[in-house]
Amino acid sequence: MTQPKRPVVVSGMRPTGRLHIGHLHGALANWVKLQDEADCYFFSADWHALTTNYHATGIIKQAEREMFVDFIAAGIDPEKATLFVQSQVREHAELYLLLGMITPLGWLERSPTYKEMRENITDRDLALYGFLGYPVLMTADIILYKAARVPVGVDQVPHLELSREIVRKFNSHYGEVFPEPQPLLTAAPKILGTDGRKMSKSYGNTVDLGESAESTRKKIMGAVTDPARMRRQDPGHPDVCGIFYLHKVTSDAETVAWVDQSCRTAAIGCVDCKKKVLERLLPAQERMRERREALLARPKDLDDLVQLGTGKARAAAARTMEEVRKAMKLA
Ligand code: TRP
Ligand code: SF4
Repeated sequence: MTQPKRPVVVSGMRPTGRLHIGHLHGALANWVKLQDEADCYFFSADWHALTTNYHATGIIKQAEREMFVDFIAAGIDPEKATLFVQSQVREHAELYLLLGMITPLGWLERSPTYKEMRENITDRDLALYGFLGYPVLMTADIILYKAARVPVGVDQVPHLELSREIVRKFNSHYGEVFPEPQPLLTAAPKILGTDGRKMSKSYGNTVDLGESAESTRKKIMGAVTDPARMRRQDPGHPDVCGIFYLHKVTSDAETVAWVDQSCRTAAIGCVDCKKKVLERLLPAQERMRERREALLARPKDLDDLVQLGTGKARAAAARTMEEVRKAMKLA
């Protein structure tokens, strides 16, 4: 077995719609940084999209295209990182099946995400084998490439704990084949939506990547700020305000300090503050909009990039599966 020289990093997203600036400062900024330090595999988790969207599969491939465009617009370089489609590397399914043989039901039923989603999603039936097995497939996604580092949001941390348990069990039965994957979290504050809740497509409070200047401006100018600042002269609390979080990820340190101070003393109003954040946000949105348009205008080039990445992923996955079959005495 040859040890890879650089660390291996794997992460995926479900193709369920356009990405927003919450994704950018959460997951994607991390991915962009990592592509220079590690062998990165970033993929479309289209099979995972089926766990909650099995009734509406028609949107998956279009959403996937948009998602890859968003990845690249956000700064992922397909020459550095390997972009691929989960369902096009069948080894994910094989490893998922094998891991299923050793994963206790209790581990899956206790998963907080599983419990929470079973309680909150009531418009469709989620009493499904595939839905329960979500973290097993996710484990296969990661360890197929022997990744030790997985850049994800905090919501995915319990899944990774489960992945480590499955890996430990596999390794103790069949020999040390896989490293235990650890989460890589971003230090960035979570981005709030225009209504002050967590930015999420399901809340309809997002600013999408590369949205037009006009529409971005409208959303930001209308966004909820510190509810205690009823009047211009009321001092504010930046730490409860989504605009302040946005400053933290887009403005320079000096501006952030100025906003912090001027908000608390009511030296500026929210309108001034929002205009200031737009000075940086709008050009960034414009750059992404241009990149998105250029990419969407050349669908064949995009397909080629993803095909190339998928081929690379397949080769790596095939190597691991040979090792797995041998370790399990199935070769
Ligand atoms: N569960 C992740 C999410 O909902 C997506 C995902 C699937 C993933 N497989 C993965 C993330 C493997 C990291 C590694 O965002
Ligand atoms: Fe938020 Fe800025 Fe208004 Fe303070 S001044 S509440 S940070 S928008």
